[in-house]
Amino acid sequence: MKLALIGYGKMGKTIEEIALQRRHEIVLKIDITNQEEFTAENLAKADAAIEFTGPHSAYENVKKALSFGVPLVCGSTGWLDKMEEIKKNVTEKNGAFLYASNFSIGVNIFFELNKKLAALMAPHPDYEIAIKEIHHTQKKDAPSGTAITLAEQILERNNSKKRWVNENSDNVEDLEIISERIDPAAGTHSIKYSSTVDDIEIIHTAHSRKGFALGAVLAAEFINGKKGFFSMKDVLNF
Ligand SMILES: NC(=O)c1ccc[n+]([C@@H]2O[C@H](COP(=O)([O-])OP(=O)(O)OC[C@H]3O[C@@H](n4cnc5c(N)ncnc54)[C@H](O)[C@@H]3O)[C@@H](O)[C@H]2O)c1
Repeated sequence: MKLALIGYGKMGKTIEEIALQRRHEIVLKIDITNQEEFTAENLAKADAAIEFTGPHSAYENVKKALSFGVPLVCGSTGWLDKMEEIKKNVTEKNGAFLYASNFSIGVNIFFELNKKLAALMAPHPDYEIAIKEIHHTQKKDAPSGTAITLAEQILERNNSKKRWVNENSDNVEDLEIISERIDPAAGTHSIKYSSTVDDIEIIHTAHSRKGFALGAVLAAEFINGKKGFFSMKDVLNF
């Protein structure tokens, strides 16, 4: 496949490495210094584009790439409030878009475990629930997109919690997400249910960015030739 990369930072470079290993070709790399190359004509050379820039630029980049008609995979976090608008945009334009707050196969399996555990724990409000996420200090958003997904999965299944908060809280209806920034953490997420008699904890630890990059390349392979709004659940057939 011919791929365009929008955002050539830590993730963009790792995606390039994995894409080349999988015998794809990178036909375009857009970063902050060559915005003028982000044109319909240049993107038309690619079978799919992969966007990993950041919370402040993702929405505009996604809108622009979709308006050019290129199938798009996006991994930028911290802009979920605009996702419904993008979903409508994809339908109206008959485009192809795949978003994941976390592209790692392991994390997507972890999401399924989290949902199952949340459903099992729902009738047991004696257990206090805490989510913790640890990332490197350059990460711009907190909590992580992955932690938000985990929290929303729990809120959908557990009536004792009403909302997630990104701080310590004395309100029993708050689901705490504690964010820590430590170098060189690639990403750890844990969910702990604690009671006076025992604790149950599930933890996912990423060892490098390569897991996210592989998932993003698999997503680009999946979206090639398709129309619609997709997630990693579609790629992994869950
Ligand atoms: N979904 C996932 O699996 C996953 C995994 C890791 C990181 N992320 C997210 O991906 C994003 C990027 O992460 P990173 O570690 O590569 O960050 P990074 O800071 O290393 O790279 C971001 C790159 O985007 C460029 N950029 C900024 N604005 C731009 C714009 N308007 N147009 C084009 N390029 C622009 C920057 O110059 C930089 O090179 C973050 O939001 C991060 O949280 C998601």
